[in-house]
Amino acid sequence: MIINNGFVDLFVKTTSEAAYASSLLKGKGDKIAADQAAVDKMRLFLNNIPMKGKIVIGEGEMDEAPMLYINEMVGTGVGEELDIAVDPLEGTNLTAKNLPNAMSVLAVSKKDNLLHAPDTYMEKIAVGKNIKEGVIDLDFGIVKNLKNLADFKNTTPDKLTICLLERERHDHIVKDAIQLGTKIKFISDGDVAGAIYAGIEDFNVDIYLGIGGAPEGVLAAAAIKCLGGQFQARLVLSNDHEVDKAKKMGIKDLKKKYFINDIVKDDVLFCATGVTGGDLLQGIKILDNGFYQSETFVLHHGSKLNKKIINKFKI
Ligand code: FBP
Repeated sequence: MIINNGFVDLFVKTTSEAAYASSLLKGKGDKIAADQAAVDKMRLFLNNIPMKGKIVIGEGEMDEAPMLYINEMVGTGVGEELDIAVDPLEGTNLTAKNLPNAMSVLAVSKKDNLLHAPDTYMEKIAVGKNIKEGVIDLDFGIVKNLKNLADFKNTTPDKLTICLLERERHDHIVKDAIQLGTKIKFISDGDVAGAIYAGIEDFNVDIYLGIGGAPEGVLAAAAIKCLGGQFQARLVLSNDHEVDKAKKMGIKDLKKKYFINDIVKDDVLFCATGVTGGDLLQGIKILDNGFYQSETFVLHHGSKLNKKIINKFKI
């Protein structure tokens, strides 16, 4: 994938503009309007980028979403063919309630390099770099994963921290973790950030696990790939409609366990701009002089780019 500074800047501008637009609606209790604002801006700025981009993870299928729908072509139509995964507003509830950690997110890879995941749930597990392959596995179950991880880290499960979405469907995980004395970092929403916590040592999260959105899983896998960690996932399809959706996307083995390289096959660029401030990123700040300030986490696998960029853009 051809990535240079100018190209990265265009994607950073795109997530920044989407984040700014939705930040104007933070705390207003309307998650749909906040999402729409981000979608409109993200689409506008993606369409200024010189590329033949195809949305592979977006707002839904064409009949459900008028903008940034799966298979929509974006960009100027000149340049490299790219797969684009977007979540213009990751954390619609967080924004509507003015809670931390909402962000605007995208990932870019060469054509056919990102998993075309349906808009369903996905079971996920993520750890950071330096964990030997085989220590954790989606199929091990929580107790084995925590014991293995503790052994590998030369410690005990009560010294570990897991991160997961606070949902009833995770009660069994919570029960097992409590029995082992493992600490839990609950998140109310936003499991792209949840998985990233496990990928960056400073957050002191040893493992992310649980069921969240499949589109968010692809975006999280893109970030974890750049961070050198491990990510595994499996689709959770709960009815015939979801099975049909997956089949329509070309998925043949509906129970397949995806490893990170099945989800993000090659080089990838990941950008996330904070909407509301949180652990990972500062939120959008409106400055006095007709500008706003954004903070964007930028990761690029090929060049090992890993930095947070603060920008000031004109409103
Ligand atoms: P939205 O921003 O689309 O509302 O998604 C937020 C989110 O928390 C995701 O991060 C997560 O993957 C998913 O929702 C979990 O879904 P649910 O709230 O149905 O458990």
